[in-house]
Amino acid sequence: MSAPVITIDGPTASGKGTVAEKLARTLGWAWLDSGALYRLCALQAQREGVDLDDEERVAQIARALRVRFAQGCVELDGHDVTDVLRDESVGNAASRVAVLPAVREALLALQRGFRVAPGLVADGRDMGTVVFPDAELKVFLTASVESRAERRYKQLIEKGFSAKLPDLLRDLQQRDARDANRAVAPLRPAEDAIVIDSTHLDVDATVERVLKAHHARRRRAC
Ligand code: CDP
Repeated sequence: MSAPVITIDGPTASGKGTVAEKLARTLGWAWLDSGALYRLCALQAQREGVDLDDEERVAQIARALRVRFAQGCVELDGHDVTDVLRDESVGNAASRVAVLPAVREALLALQRGFRVAPGLVADGRDMGTVVFPDAELKVFLTASVESRAERRYKQLIEKGFSAKLPDLLRDLQQRDARDANRAVAPLRPAEDAIVIDSTHLDVDATVERVLKAHHARRRRAC
């Protein structure tokens, strides 16, 4: 029997990462931040001077990724890249390499390797549709584009990055369009996903909703 999985997919800055991390901590399960893997590929490509549209070379980078997630930090080749990974330029570059089918294929096995007992919470765009189609609970977390831009703005300012709200809003809209319209693994809710609109919900209230759905599903399965 494979370990159970809860997937949380949704558009950029919908709060999936924060919700997924908190949920994983509450349940004592592992957490996969799949967006970090796309960010790492983009970062490494930029560092090696590889064109972000060069599918074969970026896929090679994806296959050779030496990544370690430990205590809230991400290490690439043994170096801490946690902060630089959250930079908006890396996020935008990630959404460009994420359209490349060979890159997505290269990251599949790596992502599935995170499925360990007692369970996994995985967040991203295609966790419920492609990577873990047999997940026991699938959540699609969304929020209005304006509230997502405001959240991202606050997050960046708190971390000491400079940011402008109108620029963020424009970038988010571009990223939404790129994620939703790509040919491979486009952003969309799985058919069996529950949709949660968090425009008017804070992190704790959102985690509560997911936990309620998780417990209800487990009760039904008994
Ligand atoms: O937090 P944000 O949505 O900005 O970024 P992220 O979740 O770290 O993901 C960065 C980029 O990777 C996204 O814009 C997506 O284009 C891509 N991605 C993807 O295609 N599939 C995933 N499972 C996760 C991320």
